[in-house]
Amino acid sequence: MTTSVLGRNQLPNLALELKALFTGYVLVVGLGLLVAGGQILLTHGMADDEFGLSVDDIVYSYYGNRGDSRLEAKLNGSMKDKASIVDRTAIIRWVHDGSSALAWDSQIGQVFQNNCVSCHGVIPGLPDFNSLAGVKSLAAIDTGASIDSLTRVSHIHLFGISFIFFFVGWIFSYAQGISSRTKAVLIAIPFAFLFLDITAWWLTKWYPAFAWATLIGGIGYSIASSFMLLCSLYQMWLMPILTSSIRND
Ligand code: HEC
Repeated sequence: MTTSVLGRNQLPNLALELKALFTGYVLVVGLGLLVAGGQILLTHGMADDEFGLSVDDIVYSYYGNRGDSRLEAKLNGSMKDKASIVDRTAIIRWVHDGSSALAWDSQIGQVFQNNCVSCHGVIPGLPDFNSLAGVKSLAAIDTGASIDSLTRVSHIHLFGISFIFFFVGWIFSYAQGISSRTKAVLIAIPFAFLFLDITAWWLTKWYPAFAWATLIGGIGYSIASSFMLLCSLYQMWLMPILTSSIRND
């Protein structure tokens, strides 16, 4: 590639101050993407109590685990070691029998006292198991994300992430040696996948089969934006060095 094709407004020969601005943004947003990935693994990724994001995780998070109450799922999952098999069975049987207040007062309340309240009742953020009220909602069938939280998270994602994609795309639009049409497609992809992702959360709430679309949407926009970020960094800093060394040969 010769210098004559380096137009004025292309990444390799941008003014230094613009490179500084773009690079700062690209690095911080890139780090943000990594942290977001980590956070997804730790929250949704653990929904099925196994590390790593799977379609099951997404179904549990949005549709819920409708064969099971949250209490039962946890007693067979990450809380399995917190009580003896006898106590766990007693709790699960009580849940299946409709979690009555009568049985709570006579027996089950004590089982929670013996095994659970040392954490659930002390650690902030964990549901409090000292009273039936704190246990009741977890004994009901798990129907996944509430409409409330879906609405909140959807609008934060739509507004917040589109800002990120806007600037990532804008910076990438100055890339050199990539056709206008290819750039247009790459810039449009994250927006399309973001739309798919968030639509799929809502669909998954009622139809678990859409969990796939959530996964594809998320992976799609991560790949497209990572490509644009890396390509922009490469063109701003490595490409000028590489092309000038070729010229000097
Ligand atoms: C040593 C502390 C500890 C003890 C004892 C404990 N838990 Fe937990 N529990 C936690 C922590 C920490 C979490 C959050 C992480 C997780 O979900 O695995 C949790 C989460 C839960 C959840 C999910 C809560 C939610 O909001 O979705 C349920 C249900 C639960 N525990 C039930 C129990 C039951 C029933 C017992 C007693 C048999 C028990 N736990 C004993 C620490 C404890």
